[in-house]
Amino acid sequence: MPSVRRASPLDAFVIAQHRSPDLKAGDPALMVYVDWVVGALARDVYVGFLAVEDDAVVAGAGLTLLEWGPTRHDPSPLVARLVNVYTAPTFRRRGLARDLTSRALDEAGRRGIRSISLATTPEARALYETLGFRAYAAEMRLRLEPPGA
Ligand SMILES: CC(C)(COP(=O)(O)OP(=O)(O)OC[C@H]1O[C@@H](n2cnc3c(N)ncnc32)[C@H](O)[C@@H]1OP(=O)(O)O)[C@@H](O)C(=O)NCCC(=O)NCCS
Repeated sequence: MPSVRRASPLDAFVIAQHRSPDLKAGDPALMVYVDWVVGALARDVYVGFLAVEDDAVVAGAGLTLLEWGPTRHDPSPLVARLVNVYTAPTFRRRGLARDLTSRALDEAGRRGIRSISLATTPEARALYETLGFRAYAAEMRLRLEPPGA
């Protein structure tokens, strides 16, 4: 069974690959995320959990912490986004994503965070539902074009 450890800046590239498994090394969209993870770990606004076997990372899950501000239902200034949940294909259906995600949720709880959101894929939906996540219809999103586009 793989062991679990916390992510360090040296793991930034593998974390970015978990986020975007389809992007090749050197792709600017991948590399900008690598750089962000390094800084975010140092600022303690990213927390990562990695499963490791034979010195290779085989699964991961992370939390991005956002200073959202307290609400009437939640006095904590922070909320979290569960991100970068990924298990290497040959390690799937062994409970790794469930274990790593549960550790991330425990960590959020230890920090006093009470609101955690995520975007799901079809294959991960059942996992998140069994951990208590529910679809939330109140959100809306707008994507602005970059300046000059
Ligand atoms: C989704 C993913 C992270 C699951 O990883 P995993 O380590 O195999 O997950 P677990 O073994 O912990 O499974 C937990 C539960 O998730 C659900 N699940 C996992 N894979 C599934 C699949 N392919 N189809 C349907 N449900 C699935 C099951 O409910 C499973 O529980 P069970 O095995 O007791 O039935 C993995 O398939 C993956 O990396 N997929 C590509 C990236 C991705 O979609 N990431 C999620 C981003 S939101």
